Amino acid sequence: MIPSVDLKRQYESIKPEIDGAIAQVFSDSWFILGKQGESFETEFSGYLGARYAIGVGSGTEALHLALVAAGVDRGDEVITVPNSAAFTASAISFANATPVFVDIDKDHYTMDPSLIEKAITPRTKAIIPVHLFGQSADMDPILAIAKKHRLKVIEDACQAHGAEYKGKKVGTIGDAGCFSFYPSKNLGCYGDGGMIVTDNAEMANRLKLLRNGGQEKRYYHLIKGFNSRLDEIHAAVLRVKLKHLNRWNAQRAALARIYDEKITNPLIIKPITAGYGKPVHHLYIIRTRSRNALQEHLTARGVQTLIHYPIPIHRQDAYKDINLPLGTAPVAEEYAECILSLPMFPELTTGEAEQVAQAINTY
Ligand SMILES: Cc1ncc(COP(=O)(O)O)c(C=O)c1O
Repeated sequence: MIPSVDLKRQYESIKPEIDGAIAQVFSDSWFILGKQGESFETEFSGYLGARYAIGVGSGTEALHLALVAAGVDRGDEVITVPNSAAFTASAISFANATPVFVDIDKDHYTMDPSLIEKAITPRTKAIIPVHLFGQSADMDPILAIAKKHRLKVIEDACQAHGAEYKGKKVGTIGDAGCFSFYPSKNLGCYGDGGMIVTDNAEMANRLKLLRNGGQEKRYYHLIKGFNSRLDEIHAAVLRVKLKHLNRWNAQRAALARIYDEKITNPLIIKPITAGYGKPVHHLYIIRTRSRNALQEHLTARGVQTLIHYPIPIHRQDAYKDINLPLGTAPVAEEYAECILSLPMFPELTTGEAEQVAQAINTY
């Protein structure tokens, strides 16, 4: 079977470095908010070109805390897209706000900026564009609308570590950028982890309090906070892996080129790269009308595929309460039925990618 993702191959390729980094944390025996986390925050913000970075427990918590730090509160609305991980909307809900879904661009799977203004109400506080599948949303029009209506922009960069928009790394464009270090992300640890980056000192300070129970120093709680900290073991792992990120993203790009060139079946629609940026190919998504049949065809030929995501968020049981009918986001709804994620991870071999393409071409 050619797997969708194989994390073991990556671990084996950098095993001594990872084992050494973890052993160092055990030897230091300092596990929460220490020098590994601080160093990783400095290194990751440096990599992106952001002023501050705050390590947290997951990408979901990064989004949640960023919304709270941005002042989103009970009764507010936050605009996002329905074709993300449902965690994006959970973060909005747990900030006590209501997610408002706008549809996506037909070519790039990201927020369609022409639909945002219609979704704005007096209660709208923020916009969360999602840089889905490793490709940036079209940020300039989103920023212009946010400025006009005085809205915060929190980027969901959970699938886009290192991706660029007009030469800038995503996550550094809006008021804050949120990253997930879930194991299979372009930069992932061996458990859950997340990070918020921002250039705003006040927001950074607030986030440092929020992630640590509201404490400025131990046992002195200035505000009501959460417990959401990136632990030292994960930070140490991520420091090792960050050094490889550009190389791994280049390997993903090379694999995407193989898929682009070798998949020739006219029934298949391949991804389109937007002219404004540089994607990092977190996932390689194809579309076809009879997706389930194609998935079965590929499974029978030893190719594992996934669907990101089979149900748009507004149609999930969890969001029955906001009662949004089919037709709320026609493009996202249609694509949920047609999309298929091909195997994509840096250690996938050229031969395997060619085999996947061949299996698709025989469909
Ligand atoms: C686009 C997007 N947003 C948010 C999340 C949530 O991140 P995490 O799983 O680290 O909480 C993920 C990953 O699952 C994601 O892909």
